[in-house]
Amino acid sequence: MVSTLTVLHARLDIAAVQVGTQMTDNFFANKKRLFNNWASSYDWIFPSVFYRAIHQRLLEYVDLPERVNVLDLGCGTGRLLERLATKFPHLRGTGLDLSPNMLRVARLSNHHHPRLIYIEGKAESLPFGEAQFDAVFSTISFLHYLEPQQVLSEVARVLTPGGCFYLVDFTFNKETESEKLPISPLGIRFYSPKQREMLGSSSGLLCVSHHYLLGPVLLTIFTKPTLL
Ligand SMILES: C[S@@+](CC[C@H](N)C(=O)[O-])C[C@H]1O[C@@H](n2cnc3c(N)ncnc32)[C@H](O)[C@@H]1O
Repeated sequence: MVSTLTVLHARLDIAAVQVGTQMTDNFFANKKRLFNNWASSYDWIFPSVFYRAIHQRLLEYVDLPERVNVLDLGCGTGRLLERLATKFPHLRGTGLDLSPNMLRVARLSNHHHPRLIYIEGKAESLPFGEAQFDAVFSTISFLHYLEPQQVLSEVARVLTPGGCFYLVDFTFNKETESEKLPISPLGIRFYSPKQREMLGSSSGLLCVSHHYLLGPVLLTIFTKPTLL
């Protein structure tokens, strides 16, 4: 009897894992489809004008050493990296995105090859070794991440000690004790300043400051302490 129950529980556990994996796969497939469809028009429709204004404001807060190696998570068509590579002539940058079509546009308009390169991947499992990047950026992409804590752990892993993570996304001001809000039917999630701080510190990233860039779009700067 006991062993029958044990087998039943084990089967239920396996079924639950399979359903969970299926839901996660569907989530990423839907995101990929959305951004693949958006890619060809992304750079000339209104949201992009707004996003570029955000990149411009972000640069007012970006402080980088001369020979810096940076990563842009959810880089889209690569506009932010282009801007960074123009402003910092010795900067090397990698753009990572889950949408092959976004990356195709980024590669076609890459004026700084081979200083800038673009690769396909998920922010939740970065294909890089430890301490590879002096700075990591994420602009209007964090809201799409299914596992924000996992992404922040990955950011902490690939950052050099003393490196910075520049997180730019929509926020809201209502503080809650919860680190994680339910995901909306559109598959997005916003985080308050306090929630960002809690998520960061759970991954070993210290919040340095918050800055409103445009309306509800908030930049949070994190650093990886030199003695983790
Ligand atoms: C609204 S666009 C922003 C693009 C760019 N950062 C900008 O500022 O214009 C969001 C991007 O995040 C990418 N993305 C969403 N979820 C992702 C994930 N889990 N891993 C990697 N990229 C992701 C999408 O493919 C899309 O290109």
